[in-house]
Amino acid sequence: MGMKPRDPSGRPLTLALPKGRILEVLAEIFGRVGLDISKVGKDRKLVYDLGRFVVILVRASDVPTYVAGGAADIGVAGYDVLKESDTDLFQPLDLQIAKCRMIVAKQEATPLPAARDHFRIATKYPRTAKEWVEENNYTADIMKLSGSVELGPLVGLADYIVDITETGSTLKANGLTECEHLFDISSRLVVNRSSWHLHKKEINSLITKLARKIK
Ligand code: PRP
Repeated sequence: MGMKPRDPSGRPLTLALPKGRILEVLAEIFGRVGLDISKVGKDRKLVYDLGRFVVILVRASDVPTYVAGGAADIGVAGYDVLKESDTDLFQPLDLQIAKCRMIVAKQEATPLPAARDHFRIATKYPRTAKEWVEENNYTADIMKLSGSVELGPLVGLADYIVDITETGSTLKANGLTECEHLFDISSRLVVNRSSWHLHKKEINSLITKLARKIK
């Protein structure tokens, strides 16, 4: 066995967390392992120095970029976002929160995709949509939107949407029905690979403590 890796910098670990409702759930989970993030997101600040950790607040879809770029050592990202991102991150723990599903949806009158020659898809998840199209040998134009994709079929922009759904109420309110379930989603802890080597002890300790409190 070689020498144990040492933390050469001694700097606090940086944790990239997604803005929004999920913060309340994360505060509960991190609180259980003694990390108080209850103040995070309560004002307009984006960086919080919590002593042992620095927390940065980012758009959910940007978490992989911050962690892969080394600006954060650890992050919390949904499987939907990770699948869409072209980053190589260590994913040691499924936090089992923010559960939802990736689906394909359409208007009632629209035929099932299998019966279509060429169709259009509106989505925030173009890679996921492309994978679905290719796996099924469909021919489709994929239109990338930034949000409210349910509008696409209503105004004739697209035939189908590929999007996440949790309660189904947005689909229902807009007269759309789910026609395919692509995969289940939950939030995961992600770690920058070099950070993990440099700060193995501290990061592993956090992972172990969190893992004990999940399930
Ligand atoms: C997400 C998703 C759906 C909605 C689904 O959008 O894109 O629109 O939530 O949730 P539901 O099944 O519980 O109704 P989000 O709220 O993130 O807004 P956005 O579309 O502007 O990204």
